[in-house]
Amino acid sequence: MADFSQQLAQRASTINLNAGPSPLPDAALLTAAASLLSYPQTPGMGIAEISHRSAAFDQVVLDANKDLRTLLEIPDNYRVLWMQGGGLTQFAATVLNLAAWYRIKHQLAPQDDVEGWYAVTGSWSKKAAEEGARMSISARKVFDGKKHGAAGKFTGIASVDQWDVPQLEENARKPAFVYFCDNETVDGIEFGGPGSAAAFPFEAFDPEVPIVADMSSNFLSRPVDVSKYGIIYAGAQKNLGPSGVTLVIVREDLIVDLDAAVQYGGARVPAMLSYKNMADSNSMYNTPPTFAIYVCSLVLRSLLVSPPLPLPSPTARPLAPLSDFADQKSSLVYAEIDASSGFYVGTADAATRSRMNVTFRLPNGGEELEKKFVKEASEKGIKGVNGHRSVGGIRTSIYNAVTLEHVKTLVAFMRDFQERNQ
Ligand SMILES: Cc1ncc(COP(=O)(O)O)c(C=O)c1O
Repeated sequence: MADFSQQLAQRASTINLNAGPSPLPDAALLTAAASLLSYPQTPGMGIAEISHRSAAFDQVVLDANKDLRTLLEIPDNYRVLWMQGGGLTQFAATVLNLAAWYRIKHQLAPQDDVEGWYAVTGSWSKKAAEEGARMSISARKVFDGKKHGAAGKFTGIASVDQWDVPQLEENARKPAFVYFCDNETVDGIEFGGPGSAAAFPFEAFDPEVPIVADMSSNFLSRPVDVSKYGIIYAGAQKNLGPSGVTLVIVREDLIVDLDAAVQYGGARVPAMLSYKNMADSNSMYNTPPTFAIYVCSLVLRSLLVSPPLPLPSPTARPLAPLSDFADQKSSLVYAEIDASSGFYVGTADAATRSRMNVTFRLPNGGEELEKKFVKEASEKGIKGVNGHRSVGGIRTSIYNAVTLEHVKTLVAFMRDFQERNQ
């Protein structure tokens, strides 16, 4: 095998806090590197060089699905789809598939309108609502975090009694779906953040209406009750694998033939966006991103066989260790922010701050001091801590592959930086 000692040493002295793509476990990457040259099941041919229709690759997908089902405890009436086009494509695909399902279910007339309800808690759900509106549905905001937050910024999630959820008359048509983003990567806002009971308020919505969740940036970071959702999706490039593949978990009864919806006013939808096409072909409707899926399969296996913390009890849910791990790491950074006497100020309300993306500002020194923070962090090997270009500030992303030691080093740097600059 190639000698990767130099690359591994470089990795060991680097703390990668990028928001996505972001770090992956060394062990998975080493296996992937070797498999690129020659995959054990197809000696002489690398994993990226074999047919997606081969038995060897079939097995990769079967194993990945099995491990994912175990980790997330996915009920049998849900399908797992490996799709392309990232989270942004799902902004449209979720709408197009559910609008078709709804049109068929209610046998709508072509001129009938379909509504989708959006809880807008940050930049990504805002963008999703805009894309929904572009897909010819009425996208209604049932919560708008910008109106709730100070200075028109996304800072948190109000309790549901302050949302704008329409009370429907008995025979009124329901929305086709309710959409939310579980963790807003840019704004550092998460439903059910650390120490909070603020999980998504399912109880405020009619149980017949499918709930759609974008879990791109907190996927596999805690147990999820999948049965509460119609669709969960996640771009792989945070906790799961490389970019290029998006996981969609969809309840079987929501999967419909999109062409059958045309007579009820449904749009003609590109075949690649159809969940039915993906489900019927086991995600092989066309050539899937085989290497990306393979790396995801390795990450899933590593989470299953060697979680970062032991299972808290033999009956604990499989993702409980990752949840504890995320709480442990993020609370160290938040504690440092909270103890800094205002040198660091978190941008999100304490109750809904993200365990994955810790966002903060250095208000006393403004952007100049923030630039200095990013530069000095980088010189110390702490990479990728600049905030998203749309909001600025600092963002430290603490995904599953970031270790406790990494976070302790970050916190020590923050303390030292404060001492030198306050
Ligand atoms: C929560 C969330 N949703 C959607 C997206 C968009 O994903 P993509 O770039 O894969 O289209 C991102 C990207 O970072 C994200 O963090």
